[in-house]
Amino acid sequence: MAPTYRAGIIGCGSIAHAHIMGYQPLENVQVVAIADPVREALDEFGDRYEIEKRYEDARQMLDAEQLDIVSVCTWHKLHAPLTIAACARRPKAVLCEKPMATCLGECDDMMIAARRNKVKLAIAHQRRFNAAWNEARELILSGAIGQPLHIVAKGGQGLLNDCSHYFDMMRYVMGNPQVEWVMGNIERKTDRYERDVPIEDRSAGIIQFDNGAQGLLLQELGERNYPGRTFHGQGGFLYGSDGVLEFDEQQVRLLSGKSGKWEERIVQGEDASIGQARELVDWIEDKVEHRGSAENGRAAIEIIMSIYESARRHEVVNAPLGTHASPIQLMIDAGDLPPERPGHYDIRAFLLRGETMRPDEV
Ligand SMILES: NC(=O)c1ccc[n+]([C@@H]2O[C@H](COP(=O)([O-])OP(=O)(O)OC[C@H]3O[C@@H](n4cnc5c(N)ncnc54)[C@H](O)[C@@H]3O)[C@@H](O)[C@H]2O)c1
Repeated sequence: MAPTYRAGIIGCGSIAHAHIMGYQPLENVQVVAIADPVREALDEFGDRYEIEKRYEDARQMLDAEQLDIVSVCTWHKLHAPLTIAACARRPKAVLCEKPMATCLGECDDMMIAARRNKVKLAIAHQRRFNAAWNEARELILSGAIGQPLHIVAKGGQGLLNDCSHYFDMMRYVMGNPQVEWVMGNIERKTDRYERDVPIEDRSAGIIQFDNGAQGLLLQELGERNYPGRTFHGQGGFLYGSDGVLEFDEQQVRLLSGKSGKWEERIVQGEDASIGQARELVDWIEDKVEHRGSAENGRAAIEIIMSIYESARRHEVVNAPLGTHASPIQLMIDAGDLPPERPGHYDIRAFLLRGETMRPDEV
């Protein structure tokens, strides 16, 4: 009989639902325990999914439950400390939410903790399991648009949050090329935060990949959707030497140089969270390497931090990035980004519960 893996979830907010909905259809995974310091969140989630073991302290859960799989579903700043805490208890795998961490140094600490405890660490860039993204990937890698030249995406909510998916997307659909250099800039005229991490008001980045393609990411610059197009979730535009590909989470449009015509495909598949969870189990059983492995999660953070570093140093930043702190935080601390319109605000403060207005009050 196949073993049953005991899973636990740290952080019972919005994305935790996607994790449990990924595990539930799998016969050999059972979510046995959850942790969240907010009693209301813990009980709401526990009641809904009928989970009895509930902990207000994640470390108590990790010590008591001998988990095989740990999902880290807290805000970004807690990804590194709680992943490291989970790894220290030696589960078989940890699935940590994106963005992997708030700087490159934290990513490296997480990977060291995983390695020294022999834990498989994956980052939840779950769109790697989306059917339309995979269709786009197959078309690109099979040469349907020739040599990829430019890949363009438009995001918001700061580079770290929303855009970590877009940088991961650029690499994934092109077969995970390495980055050669990055050039970027940011504007921060207000004291803007996203889930308690300082972010810029607007930004842009150019990424040179080692497959010859250049990526362009625009964050809060112009409309996210292109005129005349209905978008279903995240996606991008890829211009090749012999065609063009547009894709989002439901559809792929291909303009082939050979046919000279647009071809449209609506692509559907299973929920990406299920594919992500299933591949985690397969990775535990050494059948495959998880496509969202920590190396790929780290690569997205390295691009983001390289854009910030390019803005900080006013230069092209060659890979690998040597700066392990967060360059946007360094700029703020050095007084290089004084908000012209002062006053801290967090674009995700609405997620907090009760009277809490800052996460450190939790
Ligand atoms: N992969 C995706 O597409 C996707 C989508 C949404 C969110 N996310 C990511 O998921 C993470 C969580 O976002 P969210 O929207 O679920 O936030 P949320 O505020 O809805 O949930 C976070 C939960 O963590 C709890 N928490 C706080 N401190 C904790 C601690 N020390 N131990 C355990 N729990 C603690 C909070 O009480 C809250 O219930 C973020 O990093 C975000 O970027 C990813």
